[in-house]
Amino acid sequence: MPKLLVVYDSQTGNTEKMANAVVEGAKSVPGVEVVLKYHVRPEELEEASAIIFGSPTYHHDMTLPIKHILEEAARANVQLHGKIGTAFGSYGWSGEAPKLILEVLKNRFGMRTIGSGLTMLYTPDNSGLEQCRDLGKIVAEKIVSM
Ligand SMILES: Cc1cc2nc3c(=O)[nH]c(=O)nc-3n(C[C@H](O)[C@H](O)[C@H](O)COP(=O)(O)O)c2cc1C
Repeated sequence: MPKLLVVYDSQTGNTEKMANAVVEGAKSVPGVEVVLKYHVRPEELEEASAIIFGSPTYHHDMTLPIKHILEEAARANVQLHGKIGTAFGSYGWSGEAPKLILEVLKNRFGMRTIGSGLTMLYTPDNSGLEQCRDLGKIVAEKIVSM
């Protein structure tokens, strides 16, 4: 069964709410193993067919735990080429993190990125959570049809 991994960081819980909704949407698609993680070893990234990263924006950047995961994966020469990847995150005023993550996934790891990074202003409302569920569903549907 293809695996969809959601890796996220959240300091005050907003991106975590998004992550839970992404997982909920992904789990609505039969035939996909959905795993939600806060910390991952680089090799765990290799086991997934799709990886969705969640990071809030702090100081115009992704958070350090997410940056460390990407740096460790690069150092360990983890092979993610051709896997599906996307990103989401809560923000307050500029919201760069998901876009920055997508750039790394595409340019450093050769992943097939989807969308332009889903951002939510502070705490996601019901329609925001619906968008998160849709994102999880879209990615899950992509990997079952691969
Ligand atoms: C110290 C600090 C720095 C922040 N820097 C940014 C920033 O550069 N750009 C931005 O859009 N939001 C910024 N924010 C707002 C957070 O992204 C926002 O509060 C978000 O909802 C936090 O998500 P989380 O609950 O998942 O940690 C900052 C917040 C704090 C407390």
